[in-house]
Amino acid sequence: MPGSCDDLVVEFLKDSNNSMKFPYFATGCVVKGFGRGSKQLGIPTANYPEDVVDKLPSAFDNGVYYGWAQVDDGPVYKMVMSIGNNPYYNNEKKTMETYVINEFENDFYGSNLKTIMLGHLRPMTSFKNLDELITAIKKDIADAKELLEKPEENMYKSHQFFNNPNVKL
Ligand SMILES: Cc1cc2nc3c(=O)[nH]c(=O)nc-3n(C[C@H](O)[C@H](O)[C@H](O)COP(=O)(O)O)c2cc1C
Repeated sequence: MPGSCDDLVVEFLKDSNNSMKFPYFATGCVVKGFGRGSKQLGIPTANYPEDVVDKLPSAFDNGVYYGWAQVDDGPVYKMVMSIGNNPYYNNEKKTMETYVINEFENDFYGSNLKTIMLGHLRPMTSFKNLDELITAIKKDIADAKELLEKPEENMYKSHQFFNNPNVKL
């Protein structure tokens, strides 16, 4: 349901977010990135707007993270998130880009994306070529899928953050 993100009343888990990393709860309206994700990589990513990126505590190093994601009030899926300046492309701005592990028919610009980050997979890397970048991302996806099966990670799939659109954390 594009546009519904503006109506959400969700606050960040301020205390824990300031002092520790995981779980890290984020929510925001999906904005357009450079559009290379789907075209060049075949891995479409959903970008958070700048205000969500700015709220990220400095304790989060640039890198690849994993966790759970929900588009609007749809199902909760596994996700991988890239945080940083994409050294392969030398972006000037830091981004938070989520690849939701599911086949979607359409893109979801303007939809709300909720994520719970649960762990770090690897640092941001500058690869020699596009194939290496794609291979690394595929490995990230496989690693995330496996890690999220652990009971202590799997339980976040049904966290109230995803179930109640008006939850105040
Ligand atoms: C799981 C994952 C890992 C990524 N790792 C890297 C990386 O190590 N180095 C890098 O330069 N970009 C990395 N990226 C970012 C891609 O370069 C990025 O998705 C691509 O530039 C598309 O961005 P765009 O949709 O804004 O065009 C990663 C993306 C994902 C989803």
